[in-house]
Amino acid sequence: ILMESVTGTNGIIIPPEGYMQGVRALCDKYGIVMIADEVMAGFGRTGKWFAIEHWNVVPDMITMAKGLTSAYAPLGAVAMKPEIAAHFDNEVFESGLTYTSHPISLAAAVANIQVMKDDKIVENAAALGPVLHKLLADLGESHPSVGDVRSIGLFGIIEVVKDRKTKEPMAPWNGSSPEMTAFRKYCSDHGLYIYTHWHTALIIPPLIITEEQLKEGFAVLEEALKITDQASKH
Ligand SMILES: Cc1ncc(COP(=O)(O)O)c(C=O)c1O
Repeated sequence: ILMESVTGTNGIIIPPEGYMQGVRALCDKYGIVMIADEVMAGFGRTGKWFAIEHWNVVPDMITMAKGLTSAYAPLGAVAMKPEIAAHFDNEVFESGLTYTSHPISLAAAVANIQVMKDDKIVENAAALGPVLHKLLADLGESHPSVGDVRSIGLFGIIEVVKDRKTKEPMAPWNGSSPEMTAFRKYCSDHGLYIYTHWHTALIIPPLIITEEQLKEGFAVLEEALKITDQASKH
């Protein structure tokens, strides 16, 4: 079973308490390898080094990339339990990519992890998690076009809807809409660069962000949402 510990681009879907433990139990029962995809959720994004730690679950393998070097150099990696790694002691994994284990990327990862520890970056994400949570909740209260908000650590999302009751999205699946385009343009024009995806706005700030900077960003979102509010049923 390969799954994101917290689903990223597809909606910041945070598993409820017990879910990951249940997946682990099923994997143990049926001898299934549990692989946590932490390409987005790993390296401090959720306020822990790996998101799966929120549920005290140990997967058999973890995939990682983006935050591994803070994207200063391209690198992906897979961690695995010693018993799985031991398999490759005798069975050679016949694979080679041009840039596999590129020394510059590996050096960037080592340096990045050191800086993250020295500057307490994961701790910062953990400390600001509740701040982001509250800012999102407040947006939800004051804007009729906000259908739902979710966040864990510095990993958040706003679902923009036409109708709060039916949750009709502001843009169709796999598409956009004039309202979402205008929303995003307002943000960009005011110095806030966010990733919008269909009818959602992903709130994934740098892990070094301060509370003041988060609030500055939310002040822009406050105004941008007035555009989508006009297209929503009150
Ligand atoms: C959660 C997740 N898993 C996997 C990938 C793909 O990673 P890679 O490009 O290293 O194969 C991405 C890329 O965006 C991702 O977000």
